[in-house]
Amino acid sequence: MKIAIGCDHIVTDTKMAVSDFLKSKGHEVLDMGTYDFTRTHYPIYGKKVGEAVTNGEADLGVCLCGTGVGINNAVNKVPGIRSALVRDMTTAIYAKEQLNANVIGFGARITGEFLICDILDAFIKAEYQETEENKKLIAKIDHVEKASANQSDPHFFDEFIEKWDRGEYHD
Ligand code: RB5
Repeated sequence: MKIAIGCDHIVTDTKMAVSDFLKSKGHEVLDMGTYDFTRTHYPIYGKKVGEAVTNGEADLGVCLCGTGVGINNAVNKVPGIRSALVRDMTTAIYAKEQLNANVIGFGARITGEFLICDILDAFIKAEYQETEENKKLIAKIDHVEKASANQSDPHFFDEFIEKWDRGEYHD
């Protein structure tokens, strides 16, 4: 699999370790930077990773910064990206299986390198479960991404709220 990876300057060492891990598993890694520890700005690399995924250069993306919050927010602004900021296995698998996440984000000053690699491996191996419900939810999220008149419609989520009221959701 082709995997784009990007980080900011405070976690470049972890990015390199994660990149080596991916290569050891047989993946092709596209390192979008940053490449050293010189102070930089995480949105640059979030954008690069996101664009590599949406333009088809990469199958999946990985984003790392100190907390993961900054770069994950940045990559999620690239149209077509569904990125999850993850610190555990269950969230990573959920993000791929239910929401077809195409990028995963980590706080490399929060989560240790070994755990990041294990979570990433689980994320890559998990498969999107394409159900009608998941397709509808993803379509709604995609719709919110584009500014449109319909977005301010107060009934935008009615279908889901009605299902909730009918007791169709159990979690
Ligand atoms: C450093 O710029 C730090 O603020 C950044 O890596 C990150 O933690 C933001 O979410």
